[in-house]
Amino acid sequence: MKRKEMIYMTPMPVRIWHWLNAFGIVTLCITGLQIRFPDYINVFGSYKAAIRLHNTAGVVVSISYLLWLTYYIMVAKNLIRIYVPTMEDLKSGVFRQICFYALTYFQGKPNPHHSTPESKFNPIQKLVYLMIMIILLPLVIFSGVLLMYVAPLRELLLLLGGIKILVGTHFLLACCFTSFLFVHIYLATLGHTPLAHFKPMWNGWEEEEASTAEPHEKSP
Ligand code: HEM
Repeated sequence: MKRKEMIYMTPMPVRIWHWLNAFGIVTLCITGLQIRFPDYINVFGSYKAAIRLHNTAGVVVSISYLLWLTYYIMVAKNLIRIYVPTMEDLKSGVFRQICFYALTYFQGKPNPHHSTPESKFNPIQKLVYLMIMIILLPLVIFSGVLLMYVAPLRELLLLLGGIKILVGTHFLLACCFTSFLFVHIYLATLGHTPLAHFKPMWNGWEEEEASTAEPHEKSP
Protein backbone atom coordinates (compact mmCIF):
# COMPACT_ATOMS: atom_id res chain seq x y z
CA MET A 1 0.00 0.00 0.00
CA LYS A 2 1.33 3.48 -0.88
CA ARG A 3 1.56 5.91 1.98
CA LYS A 4 2.66 9.51 2.17
CA GLU A 5 5.72 10.50 4.14
CA MET A 6 6.67 14.12 4.89
CA ILE A 7 10.41 14.87 4.87
CA TYR A 8 11.96 18.18 5.96
CA MET A 9 14.03 18.80 2.85
CA THR A 10 14.86 22.50 2.57
CA PRO A 11 15.94 24.49 5.65
CA MET A 12 14.73 28.07 6.06
CA PRO A 13 18.02 29.88 5.24
CA VAL A 14 18.17 28.02 1.89
CA ARG A 15 14.57 28.95 1.13
CA ILE A 16 15.13 32.63 2.02
CA TRP A 17 18.29 32.66 -0.12
CA HIS A 18 16.54 30.93 -3.01
CA TRP A 19 13.57 33.27 -3.34
CA LEU A 20 15.62 36.44 -2.71
CA ASN A 21 18.04 35.18 -5.35
CA ALA A 22 15.29 34.22 -7.83
CA PHE A 23 13.58 37.60 -7.42
CA GLY A 24 16.92 39.38 -7.79
CA ILE A 25 17.99 37.42 -10.88
CA VAL A 26 14.64 37.89 -12.64
CA THR A 27 14.86 41.65 -11.91
CA LEU A 28 18.44 41.66 -13.22
CA CYS A 29 17.37 39.92 -16.45
CA ILE A 30 14.52 42.35 -17.16
CA THR A 31 16.45 45.53 -16.23
CA GLY A 32 19.50 44.13 -18.05
CA LEU A 33 17.45 43.75 -21.23
CA GLN A 34 16.33 47.39 -20.99
CA ILE A 35 19.93 48.55 -20.40
CA ARG A 36 21.21 46.46 -23.33
CA PHE A 37 18.39 47.31 -25.75
CA PRO A 38 17.11 50.74 -24.60
CA ASP A 39 15.59 51.55 -28.00
CA TYR A 40 13.37 48.45 -27.98
CA ILE A 41 12.61 47.68 -24.33
CA ASN A 42 11.31 50.12 -21.75
CA VAL A 43 9.80 48.52 -18.66
CA PHE A 44 11.02 50.83 -15.91
CA GLY A 45 10.61 54.30 -17.40
CA SER A 46 13.99 55.91 -17.83
CA TYR A 47 17.33 54.32 -18.65
CA LYS A 48 18.69 55.69 -15.35
CA ALA A 49 15.88 54.03 -13.38
CA ALA A 50 16.69 50.69 -15.02
CA ILE A 51 20.38 51.05 -14.09
CA ARG A 52 19.53 51.99 -10.48
CA LEU A 53 17.22 48.96 -10.13
CA HIS A 54 19.77 46.70 -11.86
CA ASN A 55 22.49 47.78 -9.38
CA THR A 56 20.17 47.31 -6.39
CA ALA A 57 19.13 43.83 -7.56
CA GLY A 58 22.84 43.03 -8.06
CA VAL A 59 23.54 43.96 -4.43
CA VAL A 60 20.59 41.80 -3.25
CA VAL A 61 21.84 38.81 -5.28
CA SER A 62 25.41 39.27 -3.97
CA ILE A 63 24.28 39.46 -0.33
CA SER A 64 21.97 36.46 -0.72
CA TYR A 65 24.84 34.51 -2.34
CA LEU A 66 26.95 35.17 0.77
CA LEU A 67 24.02 33.91 2.87
CA TRP A 68 23.90 30.69 0.80
CA LEU A 69 27.66 30.16 1.00
CA THR A 70 27.85 30.91 4.74
CA TYR A 71 24.94 28.61 5.47
CA TYR A 72 26.30 25.61 3.52
CA ILE A 73 29.95 26.04 4.65
CA MET A 74 29.60 27.19 8.28
CA VAL A 75 26.19 25.94 9.44
CA ALA A 76 25.07 22.88 7.47
CA LYS A 77 28.67 21.91 6.56
CA ASN A 78 27.40 19.67 3.76
CA LEU A 79 28.10 21.71 0.61
CA ILE A 80 30.38 19.04 -0.86
CA ARG A 81 28.13 16.09 0.01
CA ILE A 82 25.03 17.77 -1.42
CA TYR A 83 26.42 19.62 -4.44
CA VAL A 84 29.47 17.70 -5.70
CA PRO A 85 28.74 14.71 -7.98
CA THR A 86 30.36 11.39 -7.00
CA MET A 87 32.27 9.16 -9.44
CA GLU A 88 29.20 6.94 -9.56
CA ASP A 89 27.07 9.97 -10.49
CA LEU A 90 29.45 10.79 -13.35
CA LYS A 91 29.88 7.21 -14.59
CA SER A 92 26.25 6.14 -14.72
CA GLY A 93 23.99 8.51 -12.74
CA VAL A 94 24.09 11.36 -15.27
CA PHE A 95 23.17 9.02 -18.13
CA ARG A 96 20.37 7.39 -16.10
CA GLN A 97 18.95 10.81 -15.25
CA ILE A 98 19.13 12.03 -18.88
CA CYS A 99 17.19 8.89 -19.91
CA PHE A 100 14.57 9.76 -17.31
CA TYR A 101 14.15 13.39 -18.39
CA ALA A 102 14.24 12.59 -22.13
CA LEU A 103 12.35 9.30 -22.26
CA THR A 104 11.16 7.32 -19.24
CA TYR A 105 9.40 10.31 -17.63
CA PHE A 106 7.06 10.36 -20.65
CA GLN A 107 6.41 6.61 -20.20
CA GLY A 108 5.22 7.29 -16.63
CA LYS A 109 8.26 5.62 -15.01
CA PRO A 110 9.45 6.88 -11.61
CA ASN A 111 12.44 9.18 -11.15
CA PRO A 112 15.58 7.01 -10.66
CA HIS A 113 16.77 9.43 -7.98
CA HIS A 114 15.10 9.30 -4.58
CA SER A 115 15.66 12.60 -2.74
CA THR A 116 16.60 12.60 0.94
CA PRO A 117 17.92 15.54 3.00
CA GLU A 118 21.43 14.00 2.70
CA SER A 119 21.15 13.39 -1.04
CA LYS A 120 18.78 16.09 -2.26
CA PHE A 121 19.89 16.36 -5.86
CA ASN A 122 20.06 13.92 -8.73
CA PRO A 123 23.38 13.76 -10.66
CA ILE A 124 22.29 16.33 -13.26
CA GLN A 125 21.03 18.75 -10.62
CA LYS A 126 24.36 18.38 -8.79
CA LEU A 127 26.37 19.14 -11.94
CA VAL A 128 24.24 22.10 -13.01
CA TYR A 129 23.75 23.63 -9.54
CA LEU A 130 27.47 23.28 -8.81
CA MET A 131 28.39 25.05 -12.03
CA ILE A 132 25.83 27.79 -11.44
CA MET A 133 26.66 28.39 -7.78
CA ILE A 134 30.44 27.97 -7.84
CA ILE A 135 31.36 29.31 -11.28
CA LEU A 136 28.63 31.29 -13.05
CA LEU A 137 27.09 33.22 -10.16
CA PRO A 138 30.45 34.35 -8.67
CA LEU A 139 31.59 35.36 -12.18
CA VAL A 140 28.46 37.37 -12.91
CA ILE A 141 28.73 39.07 -9.49
CA PHE A 142 32.44 39.82 -10.02
CA SER A 143 31.93 41.26 -13.50
CA GLY A 144 28.92 43.24 -12.22
CA VAL A 145 30.96 44.76 -9.36
CA LEU A 146 33.68 45.79 -11.85
CA LEU A 147 31.06 47.46 -14.05
CA MET A 148 29.52 49.24 -11.05
CA TYR A 149 32.88 50.68 -9.98
CA VAL A 150 34.58 51.33 -13.30
CA ALA A 151 36.63 54.34 -12.13
CA PRO A 152 38.06 52.99 -8.84
CA LEU A 153 38.69 49.54 -10.35
CA ARG A 154 40.11 50.86 -13.64
CA GLU A 155 43.49 49.12 -13.29
CA LEU A 156 41.92 45.71 -12.75
CA LEU A 157 39.48 46.34 -15.57
CA LEU A 158 42.31 47.10 -18.02
CA LEU A 159 44.16 44.01 -16.84
CA LEU A 160 41.13 41.91 -17.77
CA GLY A 161 40.95 43.27 -21.32
CA GLY A 162 38.98 46.51 -20.97
CA ILE A 163 35.38 47.53 -20.66
CA LYS A 164 34.16 46.06 -23.98
CA ILE A 165 35.38 42.57 -23.08
CA LEU A 166 33.86 42.90 -19.63
CA VAL A 167 30.47 44.10 -20.90
CA GLY A 168 30.42 41.24 -23.45
CA THR A 169 31.34 38.65 -20.81
CA HIS A 170 28.73 40.00 -18.38
CA PHE A 171 26.08 39.83 -21.13
CA LEU A 172 27.06 36.25 -22.11
CA LEU A 173 26.91 35.14 -18.47
CA ALA A 174 23.48 36.76 -18.20
CA CYS A 175 22.34 34.79 -21.29
CA CYS A 176 23.52 31.56 -19.62
CA PHE A 177 21.49 32.46 -16.53
CA THR A 178 18.38 33.19 -18.56
CA SER A 179 18.63 29.82 -20.36
CA PHE A 180 19.27 28.06 -17.03
CA LEU A 181 16.17 29.71 -15.57
CA PHE A 182 13.84 28.31 -18.24
CA VAL A 183 15.28 24.77 -18.01
CA HIS A 184 15.39 24.94 -14.18
CA ILE A 185 11.73 25.91 -13.87
CA TYR A 186 10.64 23.29 -16.44
CA LEU A 187 12.59 20.47 -14.73
CA ALA A 188 11.29 21.57 -11.34
CA THR A 189 7.75 20.81 -12.56
CA LEU A 190 8.59 17.14 -13.23
CA GLY A 191 7.81 15.87 -9.73
CA HIS A 192 4.98 13.43 -8.98
CA THR A 193 2.74 16.51 -9.28
CA PRO A 194 3.76 19.73 -11.08
CA LEU A 195 4.08 21.57 -7.73
CA ALA A 196 5.72 18.73 -5.77
CA HIS A 197 9.20 20.30 -5.95
CA PHE A 198 7.94 23.86 -5.44
CA LYS A 199 6.27 23.16 -2.07
CA PRO A 200 9.49 22.19 -0.22
CA MET A 201 11.15 25.28 -1.66
CA TRP A 202 8.34 27.28 -0.03
CA ASN A 203 7.59 25.52 3.29
CA GLY A 204 10.53 23.13 3.62
CA TRP A 205 8.52 19.86 3.54
CA GLU A 206 8.58 17.37 0.67
CA GLU A 207 5.84 14.77 0.26
CA GLU A 208 7.26 11.38 -0.62
CA GLU A 209 5.43 8.25 -1.63
CA ALA A 210 6.62 5.24 0.39
CA SER A 211 5.33 1.71 -0.12
CA THR A 212 5.07 -0.27 3.11
CA ALA A 213 2.04 -1.54 4.97
CA GLU A 214 2.76 0.20 8.29
CA PRO A 215 1.99 3.91 8.38
CA HIS A 216 4.90 5.78 9.95
CA GLU A 217 4.95 9.55 9.63
CA LYS A 218 8.27 11.39 9.90
CA SER A 219 6.55 14.69 10.51
CA PRO A 220 3.27 16.15 11.76
C1 HEM B 1 11.61 32.32 -10.77
C2 HEM B 1 12.71 31.67 -10.65
C3 HEM B 1 12.93 30.33 -10.00
C4 HEM B 1 12.06 29.34 -9.67
C5 HEM B 1 10.55 29.29 -9.89
C6 HEM B 1 12.82 28.27 -9.05
C7 HEM B 1 12.32 27.07 -8.57
C8 HEM B 1 13.04 26.14 -7.83
C9 HEM B 1 12.51 24.94 -7.26
C10 HEM B 1 11.07 24.50 -7.37
C11 HEM B 1 13.51 24.29 -6.62
C12 HEM B 1 13.41 22.96 -5.87
C13 HEM B 1 13.47 21.82 -6.85
C14 HEM B 1 14.84 21.58 -7.33
O1 HEM B 1 15.75 21.40 -6.51
O2 HEM B 1 15.03 21.57 -8.57
C15 HEM B 1 14.70 25.08 -6.78
C16 HEM B 1 15.93 24.76 -6.25
C17 HEM B 1 17.09 25.43 -6.53
N1 HEM B 1 17.21 26.55 -7.35
FE1 HEM B 1 15.70 27.57 -8.19
N2 HEM B 1 14.14 28.64 -9.04
C18 HEM B 1 14.25 29.89 -9.59
C19 HEM B 1 15.40 30.61 -9.78
C20 HEM B 1 16.67 30.17 -9.47
C21 HEM B 1 17.88 30.86 -9.78
C22 HEM B 1 17.95 32.21 -10.48
C23 HEM B 1 18.91 30.09 -9.31
C24 HEM B 1 20.41 30.29 -9.37
C25 HEM B 1 21.03 31.34 -9.59
C26 HEM B 1 18.34 28.91 -8.71
C27 HEM B 1 19.08 27.90 -8.13
C28 HEM B 1 18.54 26.87 -7.43
C29 HEM B 1 19.32 25.94 -6.61
C30 HEM B 1 20.83 25.96 -6.42
C31 HEM B 1 18.41 25.08 -6.01
C32 HEM B 1 18.71 24.01 -4.97
C33 HEM B 1 18.68 24.71 -3.60
C34 HEM B 1 19.06 23.82 -2.41
O3 HEM B 1 18.16 23.06 -1.99
O4 HEM B 1 20.20 23.91 -1.95
N3 HEM B 1 16.97 28.99 -8.83
N4 HEM B 1 14.39 26.19 -7.54
